Amino acid sequence: MKLLIINGPNLNFLGIREKGIYGDKDYSTLLNLINKKADDLNIQVEVFQSNGEGEIIDRLQKSYDEEVDGIIINPAAFTHYSYAIRDALASLSLPKIEVHISNIHQREEFRHKSVTAAVCDGQIAGLGLDGYLLAMEAIVNICDRKNEGTE
Ligand code: DQA
Repeated sequence: MKLLIINGPNLNFLGIREKGIYGDKDYSTLLNLINKKADDLNIQVEVFQSNGEGEIIDRLQKSYDEEVDGIIINPAAFTHYSYAIRDALASLSLPKIEVHISNIHQREEFRHKSVTAAVCDGQIAGLGLDGYLLAMEAIVNICDRKNEGTE
């Protein structure tokens, strides 16, 4: 099983940006936690980060032709206004989970709205970096149930 994890703009600045909101762990710590979780779950994982909307869309489209079983995406600020990323997600029929490190619903009004969550299976917000690890567990369960259903 292979998961693709996509991180949007400024997430590479974890540990530098707004530590009171996103914590003091840096991006390489997040990558280590994800890789360790993938080992524990015995799955493959690729993590892609980009600050560009088009690059994120290109990466999503590329997954159409690949052996990817599920997608976890933190679209970062694009969450709140990128119809283009929403459309790219909507065109993929595999399991998808949206993750936010912070609780977007407790923050500024413009962050309360996600235009991308409706085309995902679910959303995890406000649980810090654990959100990614919980999403990995959840997506493996969704994929397992899907496979059981087709066998
Ligand atoms: C974020 C929340 C977004 O509102 C913000 O623009 C981000 C990070 C989060 O993980 O909490 O860059 O997606």
